[in-house]
Amino acid sequence: MIDRYSFLRPWLFCLDPEQAHNVTLRNLDRAEHWGLLKRFITKPLADPQTLCGIEFPNPVGLAAGLDKDGKHIDSLAALGFGFLEIGTVTPRPQPGNPKPRMFRLPQAEAIINRMGFNNDGVDACVARVRRSKFWQNGGVLGLNIGKNASTAIEDAASDYVLAMEAVYEIATYITVNISSPNTQNLRSLQGEEMLRALLSDLDESRKRLSDRHGVRKPLFLKIAPDLDHADINLIADLLMEFGIDAIIATNTTISREAVQGMEHGQELGGLSGAPVRTASNLVIKTLKARLGNDLPIIGVGGIMSGADAREKIMAGASLVQLYSGLIYRGPDLVNECARAIRHP
Ligand code: FNR
Repeated sequence: MIDRYSFLRPWLFCLDPEQAHNVTLRNLDRAEHWGLLKRFITKPLADPQTLCGIEFPNPVGLAAGLDKDGKHIDSLAALGFGFLEIGTVTPRPQPGNPKPRMFRLPQAEAIINRMGFNNDGVDACVARVRRSKFWQNGGVLGLNIGKNASTAIEDAASDYVLAMEAVYEIATYITVNISSPNTQNLRSLQGEEMLRALLSDLDESRKRLSDRHGVRKPLFLKIAPDLDHADINLIADLLMEFGIDAIIATNTTISREAVQGMEHGQELGGLSGAPVRTASNLVIKTLKARLGNDLPIIGVGGIMSGADAREKIMAGASLVQLYSGLIYRGPDLVNECARAIRHP
């Protein structure tokens, strides 16, 4: 099959990365509107997986951050993902960090971003989700929530609770993101004392919401790749203690070891793509050793091929998510990963 994206990519890579992102998504929306995506995209094989009571049509999902505001749900769904994760959204709208805040490192098949949770606020996102055909037709839609930059870290739990309340009704699952390196001190929520307090507040508020809505929505936690063995084991134990339903491993890394000396290699922010793969896989393996089959793992970080997706499953993940690989490989990567997982 002709790889159309390899023709498009040099043009897109001439643009500033954030501009290329916006142009691509705008054109994807147009293509979806005119029914073109159906003709050009090969849908992945159906490979249903049931996890946390949710039936995922296939195990390949869109990672958070690509559609922060739920503006492109139907066109992204048309690429054949088994599930989409929207966000990170915060209770109040915020502009994020000054531009430029996204950088390509093509030599390493990597991206550095310090977007800083730029988003229109949770209510705007929820309204868009409700208007999407994907959601109306029962598509699996995760809502990834975070805290506003202006909220003190000591008050973080109240932001997560507010965001959880706002998305509860529309989300298939809710991801608590405590691992972005671009919101000051956010990752300190991964430490024992703060995590225990946060999970306890979330647990309580989920109980309230379950009673109010008559349904218990699964809560996932997303962690960083820059954690040591002891940190990971501690987090795993707390997740079990507080009845969290699954863990997403991992977010971007603050390590720059793999990109030393490269253009943009020292930009501040989170590094994603090929250089984060080994660290993410190590986190997944450590989690799997601790959790066994008690709590499912969603593997994300550095999937640039079907073989990489397969490797995540071998490491212990039940589902995978993609972001940077889409920028370097284009939408055919979704199908390639689904096939590699279905037919190793
Ligand atoms: C991200 N990622 C991310 N994650 C998250 O939980 N909330 C977010 O808002 C964002 N934003 C974001 C923006 C950009 C530009 C990138 C590249 C990434 C992290 C993403 O979901 C994923 O965990 C990592 O990028 C690792 O996966 P990949 O990109 O190596 O497949």
